[in-house]
Amino acid sequence: MKDRFRVQGGARLSGMVKVDGAKNSVLKLMAAALLAEGTTTLNNCPGILDVPLMQNVLRGLGCEVEIDGSTVRITTPAVVSPNADFDAVRQFRASVAVLGPLTARCGRAVVALPGGDAIGSRPLDMHQSGLEKLGATTKILHGAVVAEAGTLRGANIKLDFPSVGATENILTAAVLAEGTTVLDNAAREPEIIDLCEMLVSMGARIDGAGTSTITITGVSELHPTEHDVIGDRIVAGTWAYAAVMTQGDITVGGIAPRHLHLALQKLRMAGADVETYENGFRVRMDRRPTAVDYQTLPFPGFPTDLQPMAIGISAVADGTSVITENVFESRFRFVDEMLRLGADASVDGHHVVIRGLERLSSTEVWSSDIRAGAGLVLAGLVSEGETIVHDVYHIDRGYPRFVENLQRLGADVTRLVGTEQ
Ligand code: UD1
Repeated sequence: MKDRFRVQGGARLSGMVKVDGAKNSVLKLMAAALLAEGTTTLNNCPGILDVPLMQNVLRGLGCEVEIDGSTVRITTPAVVSPNADFDAVRQFRASVAVLGPLTARCGRAVVALPGGDAIGSRPLDMHQSGLEKLGATTKILHGAVVAEAGTLRGANIKLDFPSVGATENILTAAVLAEGTTVLDNAAREPEIIDLCEMLVSMGARIDGAGTSTITITGVSELHPTEHDVIGDRIVAGTWAYAAVMTQGDITVGGIAPRHLHLALQKLRMAGADVETYENGFRVRMDRRPTAVDYQTLPFPGFPTDLQPMAIGISAVADGTSVITENVFESRFRFVDEMLRLGADASVDGHHVVIRGLERLSSTEVWSSDIRAGAGLVLAGLVSEGETIVHDVYHIDRGYPRFVENLQRLGADVTRLVGTEQ
């Protein structure tokens, strides 16, 4: 039997928690290490399952990868294999981040279509058309994306949607292309800035990171670097929402609050007291939150990865909220699990309407992805009785020491291993 979490409702979370490096940054930074021969060192890496999964992918390409606590050292050889191992890649979505570096370094890349969370169809058309604009040919063959390029040449590229993954793959290919690439409607997420900062420290020439137009002037070679991964804004946001849902008081360190500006603003609108510091914030709540509406959008909009937390808080808020999902089409599977917990919610297209209740009522629920899993644990905290959250391997992919942190904040949560009752 797979591990489960037992969550006892009713705790008021309080205390301090420090977030580690961002999952959605570290995996792309590990892939970017492919761009330079030699040893690249990444610090502040999170202890999550996806890091060893990326280690396997990179090892399959010929790199040596050492995970030493929160430091990851990647030694990239002079000649890298262009074929990403099918089984290693299939297990997680971020593995597709090797596509850009391999195309740039090897002139060829074969990367199996990745698996990942069940949050909707996740095509790679923008990744492919971006690489094609740079002079590569791409096709899907036997379940893999195959890219071939003689020489990559800078180009003007405009994305139909500011896709995070497509922006990353175009960046990591364009840094070694001949000439200048102008990428329009680029993603502006903090993780994109982090990747650009690392690439610049490797010798890349990039302007405009964090804006919608990124200009990349190709260089002939990059060198290895040492880089600190930015803090995980989604994990930090999860703690912020946990504080308000449980009417608690949590101080979160290791995160730039501007990376969560809108998410924290929504908590203020719900009645919370939010103080921000240079590298953290404190969220306090002494009553039931007021209902607020949420719309997920690319950064700096409200993050889709916090949508389950927005639904969770709305489920116990005073009033009715409308939550609109604009980034992923099937991200409302989570709502079915919330209905099991007694939430008063209904889905209409890409909207959910929720009428808040004082408390939810506990039962068994199933995680469908990383964030939905964490959202169910928070929902369990505001449920009457004991909630069992199944399929917590999803949560392990994104939340380091989740149970330990919850316990330190005063929650009665335990991991049940195997057949343990
Ligand atoms: C990344 C994050 C994920 C986050 C998401 C949006 C990682 C590992 N994952 O995912 O946690 O929820 O950003 O902030 O960093 N799309 C296309 N064609 C493409 C590419 C994307 O149609 O070629 C669509 C997707 O199906 C989705 C939307 O664009 O509907 C956004 O996807 P994207 O920004 O690319 O997200 P990911 O990079 O996959």
